[in-house]
Amino acid sequence: MYLASLAEHQEAFIFAIKEDGALIRIEHLTKIYQTPSQQVLALDDVTLSIEKGEIFGIIGLSGAGKSTLIRCINMLEKPTKGSIFVDGREITALAKRELRTERQKIGMIFQHFNLLSSRTVFDNVLFPLEIAKVPHRQARARVYELLELVGLSDKAKVYPGQLSGGQKQRVGIARALANNPKVLLSDEATSALDPQTTSSILKLLKDINRQLNITILLITHDMNVIKQVCDRVAVIDNSRIVEIGDVLSLFSNPSTAISKSFINSVVKTDIPEDLIHTAQVPQGQTTRLIRVSFIGSSAGEPIISSMIKKYGIDVNILYGNIDRVKDTPFGNLVLELIGDAGILDQSMAYLRERGLEIEVL
Ligand SMILES: Nc1ncnc2c1ncn2[C@@H]1O[C@H](COP(=O)(O)OP(=O)(O)OP(=O)(O)O)[C@@H](O)[C@H]1O
Ligand SMILES: [Mg+2]
Repeated sequence: MYLASLAEHQEAFIFAIKEDGALIRIEHLTKIYQTPSQQVLALDDVTLSIEKGEIFGIIGLSGAGKSTLIRCINMLEKPTKGSIFVDGREITALAKRELRTERQKIGMIFQHFNLLSSRTVFDNVLFPLEIAKVPHRQARARVYELLELVGLSDKAKVYPGQLSGGQKQRVGIARALANNPKVLLSDEATSALDPQTTSSILKLLKDINRQLNITILLITHDMNVIKQVCDRVAVIDNSRIVEIGDVLSLFSNPSTAISKSFINSVVKTDIPEDLIHTAQVPQGQTTRLIRVSFIGSSAGEPIISSMIKKYGIDVNILYGNIDRVKDTPFGNLVLELIGDAGILDQSMAYLRERGLEIEVL
């Protein structure tokens, strides 16, 4: 009986996903802060759609407008122009009381955790349930469930001051999930943590996304965060979105200088000067220095050696690395090709035909 109704429920849910994929739709959003001395344009005509079930990242430098964007989505800031839809409702058009209900669909986690220091871990997670007037017994059961989910069942009675940064953020995550939100917003939630703790928090977010089907929108200045968990990413620069796409495409083919600099911060692509030597080129032959990026299954195929055999050219490997973008292998090779100019062009075309990105350096 219970299983049957659960299955029905899931079917209804899947239907809902098909009907409208976007959970958050932002249309022509502009935000201007008015200070006594000046106007600050923090967001300039931002249009963006975040699909149900995805982990969407927004990356930008300090002052780019990231926090402003997230604060507009949960209506802590009022947009100057434009509209925002969350789960089909235009939240920018709601009255205060309706807004309070709609806000329960949105959970939020912060860089500095924002826990109440005078309340225990248990009471911190209980807090949003008290505000939502959830009956006490039900609320307590929910808190135990959430602490179990974030791996802190044994810390229920402890105060935040007795926790590590990573544990504090786990409490923050449990609290954000208390009212079963549809979307979790994260503003630099791992910026105050060391790389290892960051990875464990990101893994928790990935599990929450998969198991509870909660959409996650996270904001960061750290490309490592994007690389580890995001499906899609938007790059924000000077108040505007300058690039949107799936993370793998961004890594293999960034189209703006700012995206390239973010990628360079995690994937080393600069070749040391002393490696760029000119090989002794036989008469009538020439060289090409190329960067080859490969993604997913092609990372395991011997494409380069097939090319060498097929075209009979010489190849000098100057640099190589392999990494992971979310769950997909992603690699980079810098090669010097030596041979007849026409044959080199054919060799590069061969690599491109096999789905590799080639950049001539
Ligand atoms: N309340 C405010 N009043 C006036 N200007 C503001 C206010 N909040 C933000 N700004 C300005 O708006 C711009 C965008 O700020 P925002 O906080 O959104 O940037 P951010 O991308 O989150 O930066 P960071 O990575 O440093 O957190 C900045 O120029 C900032 O100075
Ligand atoms: Mg910020």
